[in-house]
Amino acid sequence: MNIITVINAKGGCGKSTIAMNVASGLARYGHRVLLMDLDPQAQVTQWLAAGDGLSSEGTLVAALLRRQTLSNVIQPSGFERLSFVASADGLEDLGREISHTEGYQSMLTQLLAEEHIADRFDFIVIDSPNQISPIMENAIYPADAFIVPFESTKAVKSYASIYKLLLKLRPEGDFHLLHVLSNLTRLLGQRKRVLQLMSTDGITPARSEIRSCGWLAQVDENGGSIFHYRPHSNGARDMAALVEEVRELFVNGPSAQPETEDAPGSAPETDGIEVSALSA
Ligand SMILES: Nc1ncnc2c1ncn2[C@@H]1O[C@H](COP(=O)(O)OP(=O)(O)O)[C@@H](O)[C@H]1O
Ligand SMILES: [Mg+2]
Repeated sequence: MNIITVINAKGGCGKSTIAMNVASGLARYGHRVLLMDLDPQAQVTQWLAAGDGLSSEGTLVAALLRRQTLSNVIQPSGFERLSFVASADGLEDLGREISHTEGYQSMLTQLLAEEHIADRFDFIVIDSPNQISPIMENAIYPADAFIVPFESTKAVKSYASIYKLLLKLRPEGDFHLLHVLSNLTRLLGQRKRVLQLMSTDGITPARSEIRSCGWLAQVDENGGSIFHYRPHSNGARDMAALVEEVRELFVNGPSAQPETEDAPGSAPETDGIEVSALSA
């Protein structure tokens, strides 16, 4: 089993969008995937209509508090092969409370090991909070790979603190990093500045980029998976390429086609960007 955490200490850089779609993309390839919402803002939880974001019953909060087992809070997502663990508001308070406990950074790692979650899933995809916190440390501790989205120079700057934390928690450096440009193709000047700053800081961009796509901006209200909502959009194409790049890190051999008639790239579709937005 491989664990992929989507991370950066900056809100709005595309973490939840990428976590949701990389998870559903991996499931389309036939992998058994568990998507875990480790963001107290519970964005993905709301997209999947998997909880009210408030009550901790049936969520990760209950599992970390050992009121329910992790297995008991894993729920179906509505998408084939994709299971889900919801977040709740209480995660933030819980984070503050556990920070006094020795070894709090590995609480999630322990739960995953105790309940043999690795036997049941090929991939876990973790969405993480917008700022450094004990919960974010739990998202870092077990990960095999990190996807770091950059949508602004601010996101590049905030990565410095994340990278330091990665090395503190994982001093062996035994993880992969994918630095992904996100939602920058409508702002080409900004995109250039982001790339310049990345180059200055020695941050190598991943092969995949998630272009700006109006359908991706709307996918939250339409079930969360661009592959199901707009399978021929640029958003679906870019997410498929990112999924492919993730698979190359872990899965050997020639890549299989995703299990669907709607393979991305088969027919063109507008990218959902309003004309006014293009000319803006
Ligand atoms: N590639 C994209 N094109 C257009 N809109 C996007 C794209 N990626 C994300 N968004 C939008 O940007 C906002 C922030 O994205 P989100 O994934 O919630 O970021 P984060 O989880 O890092 O806070 C959301 O409204 C989302 O719909
Ligand atoms: Mg988010």
